[in-house]
This record gives sequence, structure tokens and C-alpha cells, in this order.
Amino acid sequence: MVEMDFYIILMTVIGVLLLIKFMSRERKKVPPNPPGIPLLGNINTLRKETMLSTMRKLHKQYGDLFSINIINQHLIFVGGYKTTYELLVKKGDVLGDRPNFLTKQLLRNAGVFSTSGPLWKEHRTFCLTSLRSLGFNKGNLQTRIIEEIEYFLAEVENTHGQPFDIQDLVSKSIANVISALVFGKRFELSDPTSAELCLLLNAIFQSTVFHSPIFIFPFLKHLPGDLFGSKKLMKKVNRIFDIICKVLDEHRSTFDENNIRDFIDCYLKEQKKKNEAYKEHTFSDEQLLSTLVEFFSAGLETTSTAIKWGIVYLMHNQEIQKRMRKEIENTVASGRLPTLEDKPKLPYCQAVCYEVLRLGNVSPTTSPHALKHDVTLNGFVIPKEAFLFIDLDSINMDPKIFPDPFSFKPERFLSEDGKVTGTEKICAFSMGRRVCLGESVAKMELFLFMTSLIQRFEIHNEAGKPLPSLKGNFGLTYTPQSLAASYKKIF
Ligand code: HEM
Repeated sequence: MVEMDFYIILMTVIGVLLLIKFMSRERKKVPPNPPGIPLLGNINTLRKETMLSTMRKLHKQYGDLFSINIINQHLIFVGGYKTTYELLVKKGDVLGDRPNFLTKQLLRNAGVFSTSGPLWKEHRTFCLTSLRSLGFNKGNLQTRIIEEIEYFLAEVENTHGQPFDIQDLVSKSIANVISALVFGKRFELSDPTSAELCLLLNAIFQSTVFHSPIFIFPFLKHLPGDLFGSKKLMKKVNRIFDIICKVLDEHRSTFDENNIRDFIDCYLKEQKKKNEAYKEHTFSDEQLLSTLVEFFSAGLETTSTAIKWGIVYLMHNQEIQKRMRKEIENTVASGRLPTLEDKPKLPYCQAVCYEVLRLGNVSPTTSPHALKHDVTLNGFVIPKEAFLFIDLDSINMDPKIFPDPFSFKPERFLSEDGKVTGTEKICAFSMGRRVCLGESVAKMELFLFMTSLIQRFEIHNEAGKPLPSLKGNFGLTYTPQSLAASYKKIF
């Protein structure tokens, strides 16, 4: 009975709000949307299973700008390289903020990913500077990645060519790279902590999308029961916070400001400096914890998914595998793993990694952006209140930029004289102010993991079984479904 009353009150409040909003709304020429159900709008369009094909259909039908409306809230999708560049780069000063979406609450209104304004700016800059000082672009991080790859390859070797699904191993190895960066340590591959972290993140990333009603209307989490799965989601995120908080506490006790080992140390040093200089500042313990959770959530599923797609595409293209291996054999002395210093002499391998980033389509759209004021683009108005998504898929699969876009063709990124070319139009990490903070580390990991794996192993399909599907699962990332393969050692 109480539940019933609650629903009636809720529906009345929503109805009144809609009416007020509808009556006071300026008639703006917003990007077109498909026909929807009265009041609920296009809610039926946002099914996770069909989201990617729907986005492609709407892009084809309406062009670079279209909207999906749920209960009078505009979700605007902007795609196409030129239009996206115009908005995110040329008109970039209208962007930079995030709307009030569920992720913000899940991440406790702190960190970088979901925050806005001066807090976001200060901490994004701090993260980039610290990661750079820790060797984000230099040898230090490479050494840690290569160490991790040695463990990874040893595990693969232990399977003695028997088919297995490599996905968990890839995730744990990437978790260790992030762990090295932020905690200055790795977990044993058999450690239950990192296994739990990977499982939780994988479950979260597979179970939802940024466009679902619960992300757009976080107040729905207050409904009795768990119709939208937000309570389950919250439980998993809170568990991730607990795991990371425990490692953080252990780390704090060994902090020495004269020996900065990792991101946490950089932060604690800055926090100490700020404590001494100001009464009030934003370098709180809560902000550190949320940032660490974000490094794992934004950096683990994305990078490991890119590597997994790389393996899937190489299983489908044995000739490409052979050509990569030949290039590596001609360049890298046997007995050592490829390094970033070998990169200029491995243009074909580089082209393969770029093609994985493009066709792997790890993030078909960005997370939502908010606008500081209305903006006019291609003759349409994107209203300030809209949730803006960048349709990265429409750029990476554009046949005018990448002919025959659904085929895996690394040579599209090679000039006639064998140099890497044309990669600047790939948009896997978005662009503008919110461009991925981990782009360079992700590219480094992808190159080093893929080349090392191909140097040591031939990857084959399990005898008598179909090749892994090229169709992925659409969640917070677009992920391969399963990945059973056998790895035959070469030397
Ligand atoms: C292949 C791997 C990766 C892909 C495809 C990827 C993709 C993206 C995309 C599309 C965005 C959203 C940009 C937007 O909203 O416009 C993003 C944001 C972000 N990424 Fe990545 N990412 C990857 C790896 C990483 C790694 C390794 C880290 C951390 C070490 C990371 C940290 C972040 C953070 C913190 C943000 C939020 C930036 C902000 O809002 O200011 N990402 N990433």
C-alpha cells in the first residue's frame, strides 16, 4: 500500500514537472529524434542489446546530429569527424563539464571522470603532471609493463598449447600495470584481491550503459526494489572502494616524501604541501580514493578490451599475424622482448595496433558531457540541459575516412613507402578537453602486449570450433563475447 502511494506521488511529481518544462520550453530546433511513445519518448530505443545498431541506423537516417528523448530529456548524439571536431575542439570552451549522472554519485562526487569546474581542472592537471613525472612517457613505466608481460607470457606458456580463454589473464595483467602506476606494486596473478577487482569491474562494465534511464535520472535509485539495478551496481562499486581503500591505508604508512614511488606518493606530497600552505584545499583523502577507483575503472576494462579485440582480429587473420611476426623477427634480437625503442622499425605492428583501436571500437560513445550554455551546430541547437554523447563509432567506422570500414586492414595506415600514416583521424579516446587521460599509457600497453605475444606465440582457433565472434557485447565498453584460443610457442 505504502509502495503504491509512493508510485502515485512519484508519477504525479514527474507529470507536473514535465508539464511545467513543456509549457516553458522555448521551441528550439534541436537535432531530430525518432518517433517515440507519448510522455516516455524514445525509452524503447535505449535497449543495451541493440544500442549499437540503433545508433548506426539513426546516424545514417539523420546525419551527424540526432537525439533520443526520454521523458523530455534530450540525449544528443554528435558524430562525424568534422562536426565532432567543430564542437569539441573549435567550440570547446562551451564544454568541459559533466551532467548530474549516476556515475557522479557512484564515484562519491569526487575524482576526475565525473566532476566538473575548477575541481576537475585542478585534479586533471595534477593527474597528468604526476603521471608524466612517474614516467608515463618515459622508460620507467615501460620497464614495469615489460616486467608484467614476462609474467603474462609465462602464464600463457604454462597452458602448453591447450585452448583457454585468455580474458581473465589479460585483465589481471592490465590491473597490475595500473597498480604499479598508482600503488607502486603488482599483485601475484593468483592473488584473490586483483581477481575480485577484475571480476567486479567486468560485471559493472557488462551490465549497463551510460544511456540507460538510471544513469540519466539518478533519483530513480530511490524507488523501492531494484528495477534499474542501481542498488546492485552501488554494492559492487562500494566493494571496489573498500578494496582500494585497504591498499591505500597500507601504503600510507610507508610514505616518505623524499622517496616518491608512485601516484599515491605524489598525491600525499601535494596534500602535505597544501595542508601547510592553506586552510582549505581540494586535496582531500576522499578525492584521492575516488581518483584511484577511477584509474582502475577507466583504465582496466578499456585497455584489456582493446588487447582482447587485438587477439580476436589476429585469430581471424593468420596472414597478418605472420607478417607482424616476420617484422618483429627482422628487427628484435631473439631472446628479448620488443620495446618502444623498436617502434619506429615496426611500422606494420604499429599499423595493426591502430587498426585494433579503430575497429575494436572499445568506447562506441563517450560518457555524457554537459554544456555551459546552448550551442548551435550544423543549424541545430543543442540545449544547455541536454546530455551530450560523442558518437565515436560514427567516426571510426566512417567509410569516407576508412574505406571498407568493417574489414580489419592494417595497411590502411601505411603509406606506399611503408611509413605509418593517417592515424590522426582515429577517435578511440575522444578529443578536446575531456580527451582520455590515459591515452598514451593505453597505446604503450597495447603495442608492448601485442608485439610480445605475437613474437612468442602463434594464436590459433580451438580445433573444430568456430572462430570467436566479431560481434561484441555493448556495455560501458564494447567487449568480445568469448575468446577461447590455443597459443603455440615459437621458441
Ligand atoms: C584503450 C584504452 C582506453 C580507451 C579506448 C579509453 C577511452 C576513453 C574515452 C572515450 C574517454 C571519454 C572522453 C570523453 O568523455 O569525451 C576516456 C576518459 C578517461 N579515461 Fe580513458 N581510455 C582508455 C584507457 C585509459 C587508461 C589506461 C586510463 C588511466 C590510466 C584512462 C583514464 C581515463 C580518465 C581518468 C578519463 C576521464 C577524463 C576526464 O573526464 O577528464 N583511460 N577514456
